[in-house]
Amino acid sequence: MSETLENLSSETRQFPPPADLAAAANVTAEAYQEAADDRLAYWERQAERLSWTKPWDQVLDWSNPPFAKWFVGGELNVAYNCVDRHVEAGNGDRVAIHWEGEPGDTRTVTYAELLISVSQAANTLTELGVVAGDRVAIYLPMIPEAAVAMLACARIGATHSVVFGGFSVEALSTRINDADAKVVITADGGYRRGKPSALKPTVDEAVARCASIEHVLVVRRTGQEVAWTDKDKWWHETVEQASPEHKAQPFEAEHPLFILYTSGTTGNPKGILHTTGGYLTQASYTHNAVFDLKPETDVYWCTADIGWVTGHSYIVYGPLSNGATQVMYEGTPDTPDRGRFWQIVDKYKVSILYTAPTLIRTMMKWGDDIPAKYDLSSLRVLGSVGEPINPEAWMWYREHVGRERTPIVDTWWQTETGAVMISPLPGVTAAKPGSAMTALPGISADVVDDQAESVPNGGGGFLVLTEPWPSMLRTIWRDDKRFIDTYWSRFGAGAGNGDKWVYFAGDGAKKDEDGALWLLGRVDDVMLISGHNISTTEVESALVSHPAVAEAAVVGATDPTTGQAIVAFTIPRGNVVTEGEAGQELIKELRNHVAKTLGPIAKPRQIMLVTELPKTRSGKIMRRLLRDVAENRSLGDVTTLQDSAVMDLISSGMNSAK
Ligand code: WT7
Repeated sequence: MSETLENLSSETRQFPPPADLAAAANVTAEAYQEAADDRLAYWERQAERLSWTKPWDQVLDWSNPPFAKWFVGGELNVAYNCVDRHVEAGNGDRVAIHWEGEPGDTRTVTYAELLISVSQAANTLTELGVVAGDRVAIYLPMIPEAAVAMLACARIGATHSVVFGGFSVEALSTRINDADAKVVITADGGYRRGKPSALKPTVDEAVARCASIEHVLVVRRTGQEVAWTDKDKWWHETVEQASPEHKAQPFEAEHPLFILYTSGTTGNPKGILHTTGGYLTQASYTHNAVFDLKPETDVYWCTADIGWVTGHSYIVYGPLSNGATQVMYEGTPDTPDRGRFWQIVDKYKVSILYTAPTLIRTMMKWGDDIPAKYDLSSLRVLGSVGEPINPEAWMWYREHVGRERTPIVDTWWQTETGAVMISPLPGVTAAKPGSAMTALPGISADVVDDQAESVPNGGGGFLVLTEPWPSMLRTIWRDDKRFIDTYWSRFGAGAGNGDKWVYFAGDGAKKDEDGALWLLGRVDDVMLISGHNISTTEVESALVSHPAVAEAAVVGATDPTTGQAIVAFTIPRGNVVTEGEAGQELIKELRNHVAKTLGPIAKPRQIMLVTELPKTRSGKIMRRLLRDVAENRSLGDVTTLQDSAVMDLISSGMNSAK
């Protein structure tokens, strides 16, 4: 990685925070020093943001690494912290959720109403025989009941396992069986792209394969016909009839809160286990610090689905523990038209928007004129998460959405880290487009070489986390060995190197001359071209910096001369002509553009102009499939692909180009 090209990190544009935001910011520059002086004391102060029924005796027990225990001896209830305490503090009338259904129907849920629903759902789960420690699967569309279901589990100490509503029978049943879930909470369906999309049939098929399921709780959302079994119960006939009184019981800080499956590049999905006190502390702290949340005045909107960790930490646990008012949207960004997101921002006067680079690039592709039609002046902080954001996409986000005013926080983290780890602070950091900048106060990140040596500024290597953090995964569900092998056996004590345990994130990264961090994607996505390490992210960013390009995916394909060669799949922007000669000219120009930007070594061997890219449902490009195409192999596993027709399109285009 040390030979990686120097382009990305030589970015010179830098955007300091607006003065008014800096002057009133929740977190100031001193926080870095305070955390550096005494990291554990810093985290203790953050834990005090929450309401504990019993204080902890020990902040961190790291006596059995890599198995951490945070706030040992402390007890709290997560749902109490996310709901009851705001009502008790007199904020029951504050809106918790402005919910917007895809067809345009709306619901407003205040904290007082949320307390009633969560209490009712907790009573129902208890009646169904769910006790603390049991697992409950949640397979729901983006409706308020999704948050209610998660909080009800947390309230009674049941461990939830949310499965994204777009996943198949196969994915759902494997996850239910791995966790031995007792109950599934689902709905008849939800609205996607203007139509009701069924969920219940998938659950029916999955439950037939899962002996552990005793009950299925079904929310009525679309009114579709559903098949009915003895295990099924309607939500409105149970939860909505249950007593609204429920007293939350405290649980130990290390009580399991949820399992969330993340698909590794190989093997079965990993059940990432998160626990109670440390997780909620960091989710709550980061949501306050990174977005500068002012719960009395801000309207916050995270566009993720609750099926991803972003939805767990930044729709449910972070915002609700902070008493935020947020927007929750059920549907797709192009229904009924491509202005839907901006119409929602305008309608609810959203002040903090948190979304993903893939969406930003899609919006770029759709054209500048669309956001221009809306009043976006309420926005004051913009966030990005999920993959590296190309500098040009960052600039577009700032110019066309933030109207050159708002700071952008590019937040690096993972399902495993539970909460944000590396990010600018909106009132402190002069951010550089494309860089996640530095570890948050209290977090220790570094970039190391093959030998686990920290690289100097200007160098590149592997991203590692060098100290435990409160919201870290505690293990992989029922697989401690895989937990150690995957994250702790590459560097440090777990690799037999010294006595310090070092977490390997799996991402490549660079430090620029100022020590700012540039994430380069998964290390599996680094190409070796004639002996030079080139990251797919860098070539993609070079392509996206050309005005004709909206989005690009780059893979390394085996090449007899250069070892690997760069093959790029490129989506032109809406107005670009690509037919015949014009297309060939554009390809030539783009190859030269990359060579000019990054150096001749990075000139793609081949550029394909395509209309879509294969993505996972969380929006990550499936480079593995593109590599299959680039190397003329038949396609591997496509079960997590969002739209399988995309691959037919790309493969047929590829063949005709040969
Ligand atoms: C991987 C984790 C974190 C919630 C959503 C994804 C990539 C995430 C960034 C960012 C560069 C990023 C990394 C990471 N990633 N955020 N701001 N800059 N890369 O969670 O599915 O567990 O994926 O997403 O490669 O390892 P996840």
